[in-house]
Amino acid sequence: MSSAPSAQPAAPGDAAAGAGSLRIESLRAGYDRMDVLHEVSLEIPEHRFTALVGPNGAGKTTLLRAITGLIPTSSGITYLGERKLTGRSPESIVATGISLVPEGRHVFPNMSVRDNLALGAYLRPARVRFEETYEEVCAMFPILRERARQSAKTLSGGEAQMLAIGRALMARPRLLVVDEPSLGLAPQVVTRVFQTLRSLADRGVTVFAVEQNVRQILQIADRAYVLSQGRIVDQGSARELLDHPEIRRAFLGM
Ligand SMILES: Nc1ncnc2c1ncn2[C@@H]1O[C@H](COP(=O)(O)OP(=O)(O)OP(=O)(O)O)[C@@H](O)[C@H]1O
Ligand SMILES: [Mg+2]
Repeated sequence: MSSAPSAQPAAPGDAAAGAGSLRIESLRAGYDRMDVLHEVSLEIPEHRFTALVGPNGAGKTTLLRAITGLIPTSSGITYLGERKLTGRSPESIVATGISLVPEGRHVFPNMSVRDNLALGAYLRPARVRFEETYEEVCAMFPILRERARQSAKTLSGGEAQMLAIGRALMARPRLLVVDEPSLGLAPQVVTRVFQTLRSLADRGVTVFAVEQNVRQILQIADRAYVLSQGRIVDQGSARELLDHPEIRRAFLGM
């Protein structure tokens, strides 16, 4: 895999914070004026693979929705590098360099694979580089080129996940946010998807992934946070957390 969409060059002035780093300070957000997230603070370092784990209903998807502007926040501040995200529209947040791969993938089954990819490049800066980025994404996921003209419904679950990741990469993000990438996939396919996320981080895209497959994600991520009932209850290097007695008991059945 020789080429991949590389992180955008840092704009002058945002080198200090790391233009692809995400910082969340005391975030509260939820639905119908009921907070699901309580004072969540975390830092996602640039060019690293950070995982977020936690039980069902902990608020993981809600956190990703709040980061990407899909739900409003009731308090707290979020920054990508030195740029404040709080209060921006989802489209403006995409423009700062954040792409979301949503839970359940949401590829459009009746559209071609190539047209699904094109949807990821709808903002002008990405659209003018469509052919270049398309080549890079197809170099990473050759199956997407092979199936370019077929409708997305012909893809297997793993291939559809590659398409969903590829579509997010078409925006040339600095930060890729992924919700439950392993959902519904066979074990070998999960390994491939996680390795893809790993190699993206190694090539300069900051990766933040929510995952239920705690053991495998902690084996491949750099750092992790644990969210429980809307609060961050633990954090550290992925390796440390993998050996943590409480994590082993709560998530790994040991
Ligand atoms: N659209 C919504 N409207 C109202 N409440 C919601 C909505 N989406 C989620 N919730 C509630 O917010 C809480 C957190 O849900 P969320 O989907 O963020 O959890 P999660 O950690 O992603 O869970 P899972 O592991 O099952 O995906 C839950 O109590 C859920 O019922
Ligand atoms: Mg979820």
